[in-house]
Amino acid sequence: MEVIKKILANNQSWAQQTAKDDPDFFTALAKVQTPEILWIGCSDSRVPADRITGTQPGEIFVHRNIANLVIHTDVNLLSVLDYAVKQLNIKHIIVCGHYGCGGVAAALSNHNFDLVLNMWLRQIKDVYMLYEDELKQIEDEHKKTDRLVELNVVEQVKHLAKTSIIQRAWKHKQTPHLHGWVYSLKDGIIHPIFEMHPGAEIDPLYVYDDI
Ligand code: CO
Repeated sequence: MEVIKKILANNQSWAQQTAKDDPDFFTALAKVQTPEILWIGCSDSRVPADRITGTQPGEIFVHRNIANLVIHTDVNLLSVLDYAVKQLNIKHIIVCGHYGCGGVAAALSNHNFDLVLNMWLRQIKDVYMLYEDELKQIEDEHKKTDRLVELNVVEQVKHLAKTSIIQRAWKHKQTPHLHGWVYSLKDGIIHPIFEMHPGAEIDPLYVYDDI
């Protein structure tokens, strides 16, 4: 229980210090949130969205899951996406993976994690298969994982563009811009690797008409 006591004590001192530094901080934030960014990141505890981007409470709307996946049957993610795009009018969506991702490494193994986790990691195995020709040339396991981390981010950004939520927003609001980033645990640097802007080409079979 020590850790629980510790983080509650941390919270007390943070709240006091924040109110001291900026007396309006909590009253202003309690009224409204107007974030311009939706962050879809990995659940990994070493990749905190606000810390690594130097942003404050109120600036980023966040969804995190194992290996930052965008799955078109994930009601949780789709609810966050729908709310962020329609109600919050966010301008940018960032899918941020990270080198050395345990979820991606697990998907590259043959380990049986049993039903639920197998089901989740299966999505990453499917990404591997899309790029098998390139990935099977890489012998070093860490390098292979890191390249799949990058390709996984690319595919998840494309998944966003395949949703009617994004296609409707692109058509009527010319937002949001989609960004694929990879964070390096070793030096804390974010590497932007892929972008899709409103009007970008989407595989024709996924384009909805009358939207
Ligand atoms: Co991860």
